[in-house]
Amino acid sequence: MRNDDPVNIIIVGMGGHAHSWKTYIDAHPGWKLVGIVDTDTEKLEHVTQWGVPEECAYPSIETAARWSEEEIDAALIATPIYTHHLLATEAIEQGWHVIVEKNMASTIEQAQAMVKLARAHPEICTSIGTQYRYRPLWWTIRQMVHEEQAIGKLSFVQAKSMAFSGTMRAGWRAWLDNIYPQDMMCHHVDVIRYSTGLDFVKVQAQVFKPGWSKWLGASSVIMNFVMAPRGQETNRDEWVHGQYHGDWQGTGLKTGWEDWFEFYGPKGSLRIEPPAERPKSAWEPGPLMPLAGEPTGSKLVLYLDDDSGANKEARVIEKRSDVQHHPKGYIDQMYMLDDMQRCIEGGGKQQPGTCFEDAYRSFLVTRLAVESSRTGKTLWAPVYWPDPVPEP
Ligand SMILES: NC(=O)c1ccc[n+]([C@@H]2O[C@H](COP(=O)([O-])OP(=O)(O)OC[C@H]3O[C@@H](n4cnc5c(N)ncnc54)[C@H](O)[C@@H]3O)[C@@H](O)[C@H]2O)c1
Repeated sequence: MRNDDPVNIIIVGMGGHAHSWKTYIDAHPGWKLVGIVDTDTEKLEHVTQWGVPEECAYPSIETAARWSEEEIDAALIATPIYTHHLLATEAIEQGWHVIVEKNMASTIEQAQAMVKLARAHPEICTSIGTQYRYRPLWWTIRQMVHEEQAIGKLSFVQAKSMAFSGTMRAGWRAWLDNIYPQDMMCHHVDVIRYSTGLDFVKVQAQVFKPGWSKWLGASSVIMNFVMAPRGQETNRDEWVHGQYHGDWQGTGLKTGWEDWFEFYGPKGSLRIEPPAERPKSAWEPGPLMPLAGEPTGSKLVLYLDDDSGANKEARVIEKRSDVQHHPKGYIDQMYMLDDMQRCIEGGGKQQPGTCFEDAYRSFLVTRLAVESSRTGKTLWAPVYWPDPVPEP
């Protein structure tokens, strides 16, 4: 592949979320869709509707690698979570760069093996589909909290995301034993990590569903946590405490999806607040399609105190759309494709922001929440990192 050639990518898993990826792949001049893999052969009969010739539809990664006339450079794995580890491994062993959808894997051991494999292939670029971090909202919070310290040194985070996701979950999700931690929570953990520049070091959680729920798996998580800067994990003076409540069986909500994320420091707080009234559309419009998971109408408000602690100012903050200072204003999955392409061109010397190594630290928290709930213990995350840090 020459640097001015597009990156030839195949989509593995021709489902709902892959369709959104296809929109971005089509729109990005540096990428070209050259094939689709799916185990559902009935779906494969419709690949031409995805702009892919019939002969470029494959039932497995292996057949795609063997029969594709175009050289394949990368794979997007957008299949059910329990297939990610195996399919990502197969793709990397073919020498392909990979974007794997969240959750990264089903177990900590699988994700650790993926990080190890990525380390053994530094020339290969990896990425996990936590695109929320590359949206104006989280970019603005990152700049204000982490870079500009608008509220002073961060001391506490309170995060709550409530939605009602139906009386039953459809498809493969219905069978997950911990639906919320597996399917949703990593987005929140990831945006909290991204916007604060901190890692989660302690996790104490309850994972459950309401007694009336017909879901098979848990729909809700309540978690107390501690975060710390990289390299300062054992320095209690640097710890930032927090609470998180994520829920897909929320009822009596004023809007379809309500997010409250609050960041507190000595000078004041920065808060995401949901609209008081039900908005007309569920999701914030994006440049190409609605940004699923980004509720419309939510406001970012900065509250600053005076020296006596009384409120001095309450100001609605305009969200900044120059995510990561991108010259073309790319956000969301479009930014991720661009980031990946740049890293591929650089031979993997730099990895995408959501590479396996980084994403593992978000994924890990979702599994530790389940483990903490099961055992009743507070868990120290850094002992599970590839380069472990013992508990102080
Ligand atoms: N990042 C996000 O915001 C976001 C949003 C939605 C879904 N997702 C993730 O995307 C992934 C797919 O979710 P979805 O809602 O699109 O699911 P889906 O059920 O709509 O599609 C999954 C597809 O994978 C195919 N498949 C199953 N096993 C396979 C295998 N072994 N090899 C090849 N194909 C296989 C299925 O036939 C189906 O076509 C999940 O990991 C999900 O968590 C991420």
